[in-house]
Amino acid sequence: MNILLLGSGGRENALAWKIKQSPKVNKLYIAPGNAGTASIGINIALSASDFDGIRQFVLDNNINMVVVGPEDPLVKGIYDYFKNDSELNKIPVIGPSKEGARLEGSKDFAKAFMMRHHIPTARYASFTAEQYDKACAFLDTLEAPYVLKADGLAAGKGVLIIPDLDEAKRELKEMLGGMFGEASSTVVIEEFLSGIECSVFVLSDGNSYKILPEAKDYKRIGEGDTGLNTGGMGAVSPVPFADAEFMKKVEDRIVKPTIEGLKAENIEYKGFIFLGLINVKNEPMVIEYNVRMGDPETEAVMLRIASDLVELFEGVAEGKLSEKELRVDPRSAVTVMLVSGGYPGNYEKGKIITGIDQINDSILFHAGTALKDGNIVTNGGRVIAVSSYGKDKNEALATSFKNAEKISFEKKYFRHDIGFDL
Ligand code: AMP
Ligand code: GLY
Repeated sequence: MNILLLGSGGRENALAWKIKQSPKVNKLYIAPGNAGTASIGINIALSASDFDGIRQFVLDNNINMVVVGPEDPLVKGIYDYFKNDSELNKIPVIGPSKEGARLEGSKDFAKAFMMRHHIPTARYASFTAEQYDKACAFLDTLEAPYVLKADGLAAGKGVLIIPDLDEAKRELKEMLGGMFGEASSTVVIEEFLSGIECSVFVLSDGNSYKILPEAKDYKRIGEGDTGLNTGGMGAVSPVPFADAEFMKKVEDRIVKPTIEGLKAENIEYKGFIFLGLINVKNEPMVIEYNVRMGDPETEAVMLRIASDLVELFEGVAEGKLSEKELRVDPRSAVTVMLVSGGYPGNYEKGKIITGIDQINDSILFHAGTALKDGNIVTNGGRVIAVSSYGKDKNEALATSFKNAEKISFEKKYFRHDIGFDL
């Protein structure tokens, strides 16, 4: 079969790597892809959210399945776009319907969904600008720190955690006044939860599900989880505290009611569900839903999926996921992200990357690279994910750190402490 994968980051490079291992795949196209995906499949100069362009490409190139990497096309309704088009509706899209994608696209929707289905999450209330006084009164009932979340997509920046009540009220006013544009015209205020986070990934055909290997990501730029948030500096899988007992709670209290809830509300969902969880004294609670795989978690999780991913996707498309087998590699897998100096603030692009061809015991996934005059050059803040296996996380990390040193570009930076808290 011919597959079109949408997206251009490290996550998509890792998905492409895994998809291409399937003997079922004839041609793999990636739109728009990056220099890493170009060595696995064929990059197409189309934006992942250009539905009309994608439509034409799919029809012209005999595409049999579309796999969606990022949230943006899902929230904009690519699943429904295919379903409602008489020429496209036989071609499966791996990803939820527009309604299902609201689990990520609207935090207010996600919280209300969790309330309806008794899924453990922080206490909350949502407010618009007209309700500012009520919102302040709600803040008065909470204890510091205060968690303010823009309802809509804000490129990962829409969550503020504020230690002081008066400052929280000031920031709330800014948010409701358009700090994140339309995305913060509604703000979710919630109770602060204290614990360690992890990401649990579920693949569902809307009826049954498979729980994929979990991972922990590292979002801050600085070692010891300090400094600004980034798109992700590394990830580790498995997560030691997510043991059988914890995962049983996740399955019974979160995964099952989520799938049942989607079904009960007639929300079509054939794709990944990413549960952003926090472990509060050994009780899993949901911080957020995402409707796609995580980045950089995918760059570790794909190494641990031993089954044919395309066969699992076929199960999703046909509603026969329960008949498929998920096999998990027992080894640890980690990823360490090499980033441009200055990121997540200002940084330069176009630096020549050397040393890539010397690496044979890690798998490199490109996040922000480009091909220029025969060289691979940096083309983003996050540049290359160095992913490795090991008998445990320390062995895998040692391999990734060793190889992170071997790759060179001007002002390269990476965190040397991925996994430090596990
Ligand atoms: P989100 O975009 O919802 O994942 O939030 C971004 C980050 O803010 C999360 O990864 C958490 O580290 C933190 N966060 C969000 N909600 C809470 C909460 N209720 N309590 C503690 N930390 C939170
Ligand atoms: N690693 C977190 C995310 O992909 O949103």
